[in-house]
Amino acid sequence: MYILGIETSCDETGVAIYHSERGLIHHLLYSQIDMHSEYGGVVPELASRDHIRKLIPLIKQILHESSLTSKNITAIAYTAGPGLMGALLVGAATAQSLAFAWQIPAVAVHHLEGHLLAPMLEENPPEFPFVALLISGGHTLLVQVTGVGNYELLGESLDDAAGEAFDKTAKLLGLGYPGGAKLGELAKLGQARFRFPRPMTDRPGLDFSFSGLKTFALNTFQKSDQIEQDKADIALAFQDAVADTLAIKCRRALQKTGLKRLVVAGGVSANTQIRATLTEMVIKEVGEIHFPRLEFCTDNGAMIAYAGYQRFLMGELQDLAILAKPRWAMNEL
Ligand code: KG4
Ligand code: ZN
Repeated sequence: MYILGIETSCDETGVAIYHSERGLIHHLLYSQIDMHSEYGGVVPELASRDHIRKLIPLIKQILHESSLTSKNITAIAYTAGPGLMGALLVGAATAQSLAFAWQIPAVAVHHLEGHLLAPMLEENPPEFPFVALLISGGHTLLVQVTGVGNYELLGESLDDAAGEAFDKTAKLLGLGYPGGAKLGELAKLGQARFRFPRPMTDRPGLDFSFSGLKTFALNTFQKSDQIEQDKADIALAFQDAVADTLAIKCRRALQKTGLKRLVVAGGVSANTQIRATLTEMVIKEVGEIHFPRLEFCTDNGAMIAYAGYQRFLMGELQDLAILAKPRWAMNEL
């Protein structure tokens, strides 16, 4: 059975084909980064227009390159939220129209469930149950996962998401958009000169707060000579603080749940230092850790095809209504 996956929640148009026995067949991604970088961030209206331009050609291309036709597809999975309304609508309307024309079901996928299940596409997928740390541009969540659709929220960010904190700090250091990965690169040139706080680690609980770190970075930057080395040193101090904070909270979550398995996903899980710090912590805890491959940390169609396949197996097929939910809490799943 072949599932076509469609992702259009933000600034990447992603499509993928997943096969029930053979796994991921193919995926394609068109990133809008170049277009938005001129404006220093995602412009929602431009994002929607670009998804309109790119989505159908990408679907044609992926079918062609996979030597498949519409007749081979059993269901279409699409990101129904959370995300930008206009961007979501493009994916949802396209998916529902194709499903109607091809007379197959459509499956609405929660974007964060897609991220959370992305490590299942790897060679050694994690077994249930596990603790998942979801670190994306819009969300920072610690979740206890006992199966597909069985998610218990353990902790979340009370202000900026981890990716948002990366992006804002990058912006104030003049690194432009999208800043997270650029800040990570710059931090590699940094020297351990500053120490930033590890927010909310001095009290019990699994919630996060990252907005103070960006203010800390700003104050440190303003007091410095503001040369390139200062920027790199601040980037490193910021990244250290985020990585340590995530590791402390993940260790707590493993201890609290009695689980030994940690799954880390979402755009920020592409960060080299965060991967290393979390891996080191899990090894000390004699546990196991799983990440998606780098290209599936950030938004992509493969994770939507996979999550859609799982939801399909659970019988969650949709009627013809176009579902687009810009806000959609994961505990509603
Ligand atoms: O999961 P994602 O692609 O989109 C959302 O669902 O939000 O995550 C995007 C976020 C952005 O904030 C981006 O700056 C951050 O992930 N990001 C990184 C890295 N690559 C992407 N942050 C730190 N280091 C990276 N290497
Ligand atoms: Zn995402």
